Amino acid sequence: MKTISLSIIGFGAVGQGVASSILTKQNYLKEQGFNLRVVAISDSKGSEVNPEGIDIERALKRKNQEGTIAKSNQKALDIIREVEHEIVVEATPTNIKDGEPGISNMLGAFNSGRHVVTSNKGPLVLRFLELKEAAEDNGVMFRYEATVGGAVPIFNLIHEALSGNTVIGIEGILNGTTNYILTRMAEERMPYEIVMKEAQELGIAETDPSYDVEGIDSACKLVIIANSIFGQNATYRDVNVTGITKITPEALELASKNNYVVKLVCEAGKGHLTVAPRLVPKRHPLSVGGTLNVASILTDLAGRITISGKGAGSVETASSILSDILYIIKNS
Ligand SMILES: NC(=O)c1ccc[n+]([C@@H]2O[C@H](COP(=O)([O-])OP(=O)(O)OC[C@H]3O[C@@H](n4cnc5c(N)ncnc54)[C@H](OP(=O)(O)O)[C@@H]3O)[C@@H](O)[C@H]2O)c1
Repeated sequence: MKTISLSIIGFGAVGQGVASSILTKQNYLKEQGFNLRVVAISDSKGSEVNPEGIDIERALKRKNQEGTIAKSNQKALDIIREVEHEIVVEATPTNIKDGEPGISNMLGAFNSGRHVVTSNKGPLVLRFLELKEAAEDNGVMFRYEATVGGAVPIFNLIHEALSGNTVIGIEGILNGTTNYILTRMAEERMPYEIVMKEAQELGIAETDPSYDVEGIDSACKLVIIANSIFGQNATYRDVNVTGITKITPEALELASKNNYVVKLVCEAGKGHLTVAPRLVPKRHPLSVGGTLNVASILTDLAGRITISGKGAGSVETASSILSDILYIIKNS
């Protein structure tokens, strides 16, 4: 049995999803020869540390009841540097202004010889190459499947299963909130403002939805794709972005009469990165409804491969994080 110790930095929806998935999959993982031991968990107020392994069930309960995991006020970066463990799961909030606290956490992990698995887009949008090189320089792995597409395994599919192929281009719908809004507007012939209110009531859209509806979140994901798949050193400024706020029910109705839907499509190819509303034929693989995400990858040998699934959610995102953890264990 291989025992691997890890920290969970950020104990919100994703961090808790990772913890509960490790708990529910404990026997399944042991059958495969892996024992995942969570030795530290941090949130914004402090940390719990136990080198013998934290009782995950109690930690989740305490976070739920007391609002924090903190048993001490030890900061995440000190945990990353000082507590003995192999893998840091970085799941703090995405910050696209300066990437913090994610960038410091990730660099701190690499410089301490620890692998990083993350769902946090900010650091990858701002300083992808620097992070990749820091991991390489320290002989550790940097895995980020959960940053794009939630449960949909875009990077693992391309870097592993399709590794003999050259990727020519990728199109996708990578933001569930905007896809939900466009789907509801088209189906119910309702204006943007009313559907947005409904999405906010359902918790699908944030109180300030601009990050999603102006296409910023999609653009960030496209930057990560460009850097990871096309070896670029792109940032947010390299993406041509148009959001969905100006789309009217009349435009959607006209599209529908001609057998089209309108989708916020991300397009990445060598030299161009675009996020914009596009007309998509109703029966096209990109025409997925509700909060679903989809990625359609055009390759030289395999042709077009399209995958879709849940682009967000606590346990769904944990699925990608868990697969990255297992990749590291199997390949390091
Ligand atoms: N939710 C999803 O479905 C999803 C999907 C894909 C990617 N992501 C990305 O994954 C990351 C986590 O998302 P989430 O939904 O779990 O966010 P969240 O619910 O807001 O949780 C963020 C966690 O980070 C903690 N935190 C904030 N500042 C910290 C600091 N300085 N040190 C340590 N912990 C700190 C917060 O502490 P408190 O609990 O004390 O506030 C909270 O526990 C984000 O970058 C997000 O963009 C999320």
